[in-house]
This record gives sequence, C-alpha cells and structure tokens, in this order.
Amino acid sequence: MTNQEPMYYGTYLQLEKVLDAQSPVSFQRGNQPAHDEMLFIVIHQAYELWFKQILFELDYITQVFSQAHINDNSEDMNLVRHRLRRITQILQLLNQQVGILDTMTPLDFLEFRNLLTPSSGFQSKQFRLLEARLGLQLEKRHQHDYYKRTNEGGFTQTDYTDITNTENNQTLAQLVNRWLERLPFFEAGFWQDFEVPSAQNNEHPFWHTYRHIYQQGLTEREQNKIHDFDYVFFEKIPEHATPEYLDLLRSQFSPTALRAALFIMLYRDFPVFQTSYQVLDALIEIDHLMSNWRHKHLIMVRRMIGMRVGTGNTSGAGYLEGALSKHYVYRDLSALSTYLIERRKLPALPASLIRHLGFNL
Ligand code: HEM
Repeated sequence: MTNQEPMYYGTYLQLEKVLDAQSPVSFQRGNQPAHDEMLFIVIHQAYELWFKQILFELDYITQVFSQAHINDNSEDMNLVRHRLRRITQILQLLNQQVGILDTMTPLDFLEFRNLLTPSSGFQSKQFRLLEARLGLQLEKRHQHDYYKRTNEGGFTQTDYTDITNTENNQTLAQLVNRWLERLPFFEAGFWQDFEVPSAQNNEHPFWHTYRHIYQQGLTEREQNKIHDFDYVFFEKIPEHATPEYLDLLRSQFSPTALRAALFIMLYRDFPVFQTSYQVLDALIEIDHLMSNWRHKHLIMVRRMIGMRVGTGNTSGAGYLEGALSKHYVYRDLSALSTYLIERRKLPALPASLIRHLGFNL
C-alpha cells in the first residue's frame, strides 16, 4: 500500500474516458454547429448510466429471488426492499430529467435532428433489458415487431441476441410470483383453530370468511366484482368473460401468488409482513414511475416533433401512446386494491399462524 500513488479523483472515475465521449455530429467539419446537441447527448448518456445502475441493482434482487429458499426475515429480503427503493428513487430522477430536455425547443432540435436518423432512444439496449428483466413479456408489447428487428432503425445483431436471451430468462415478475406461491400462510395446520361452520370441504376457512366479508362490503353497482374475485383468486371463469377481460383481471401472476400478495397487503401493519409488503409496494411503484416516464417522454415528443414519424422509424407519438397504455408489468399487484376490505373488518389471525410467523400479538 505504501508505494502506491495516491488515488486521484479523475483517475478513479476514469473521467478522461467519460468526458471524452461527447462528440456532437453537428460540430464536425462541414456541418452547422447546433448548440443543443451537446445537451441532447449528455442527457441520453446520463439516462444510460442510470439504467446501468438499475440493472446492477436488479442483478442482486434477481439473485435473491432465484434462491430455492428465501428467509423472509433475513438480511437478504431487507436488502431487496432497500435496493428496490433505490431503483424507485433513480426513476424519480429520470422523470425529472425530462424537464431539462424540455428546455430545448423544437426549432433547436430541428437543427440537428436529421443528423441522427435512423438512431433513436428506441434502440436503447439497456432500456429493453430493463423492461425484459422486470417482466414485460414480448407478446404483451405494443407492436413488438417494431423493435424486434435488425434492419435500419432496429438493433445490431449482438444487441438483438442479448435482448432475446434476456427475454428468455426468468423475469423478476416470474420469480416474485414463485416466491409468493411458496409462502406458507394458508397451510391447513395453522388454521385449525379458525373455525368456520359453513365452509365447504375444499374451501379454505380464511378465504371462505374473507370472500363473505368482501361481498358484504360491495355496493349495488359493484356486485359483479365478486365474480372477478373468484377468477383472480380461484380461477373460476365468469360467464361471458372475454379473454381480453380476463387478461385485464389477471395476467402474469397465479391465483396462489395473488392470494399470498393480498394477504400481505391486508396484514401489512403487522411487523412480520412489513418487508414483504414494501417489496410488493416498490414493484408497483416501479411500474408507476416507468409509466410516468413514458407519459412525460410522449408529451415531450409530441411537442418536439408533433406527428412526424420517429427517427427510429415508428409512427412516433402513436407508437409511444400504445406502449404507454400497455407496458405495465405489475398491474396484477396494483389491481389487488380492488379486493381490499376495511381494516376493522379483518379476520383475526389464528394463534398457530402467528406462532409460526414468529411474532407476538
Ligand atoms: C428530443 C428528444 C427526444 C425525441 C424527439 C424522442 C423521440 C422518440 C420517438 C419518436 C420514439 C419512438 C421510436 C422512434 O420511432 O424513434 C422514441 C422512443 C424512445 N425514446 Fe425517445 N425521444 C427523445 C429523447 C429521449 C431520451 C432523452 C431518452 C432517454 C433514454 C429516450 C428514450 C427513448 C426510449 C427508451 C424509447 C423507446 C420507448 C418504448 O419503446 O416504449 N428518448 N423517442
């Protein structure tokens, strides 16, 4: 250690490389320098750096959820919660950054726009990896043929292969689904002292009771929600339901997983459910913040290029609008609010479950 050169700020951060990576095309010989192209490059690079950090956090989170057994009271889960929250903070910053880009006017943009064709943020590999790793499925995408291509405006063959491989891996949504499915809340042994005389043989006493309380709380106009409840949690298909309707009710998560997720949301005020609840809440928040970004980006694009086609060869604002309305990953989780009941009506948990979960009331 003693003979080592003292570390220098610029060396440690490799600033020579980083700060040498902004070369506006309009500044090259033969072109008319466009002042705002520097901002355009810096802001895209800043986005890419933050995407990199989000993917790095996701590596850790995915690795924890990939374990055969996850101890819900462990340091692992607490770090997952913490790092998911870090991702939400970064996404908030990324949303604010749109405001800086908005200081560029449409006329400023026109000064260099043609020089970038056919490149576009549409080709951001890290953004596609982020979407794929969170769990956005190819078949659920708005016009996926738009970006699954290697012709002009599409990806290089290497990026295309990397994105396709990532899409074929297990996603965070699938891993979270599996974690939820394995939670032991409803094992029969914990519910022996939770007596419900009218429950049928194959009905779980908690769900029999809960369904009844939920139904009692529905207003006249909401009566149909009980059929949605039966589909979401017990796979009973409501009469006349179309596949599109069913897909809106539940798509990526299984009934078993959603029963556990609802249970966590209901009993979130008990310390033992707090970490799990915050994990679910952060996933919902990530979906919201991604959607906020899509919205801000769309509005910015409309203002910048109106209804012109995008440099990446899509219909532009039309494509972005479709993506905005469809590209949710954790809609199943946020939709659980439909099935909550008032706190004061929550059934008391049986003593054996409480003992198993390791907390005292
Ligand atoms: C003047 C500023 C910008 C304009 C006019 C613009 C325009 C567009 C348009 C028209 C599209 C649709 C694809 C296409 O045909 O090109 C698109 C997609 C996209 N842009 Fe931008 N963009 C701008 C800034 C940014 C910035 C700063 C980022 C940050 C990384 C970004 C990231 C993306 C991404 C990730 C997509 C794909 C969205 C999706 O498929 O859901 N864009 N952009």
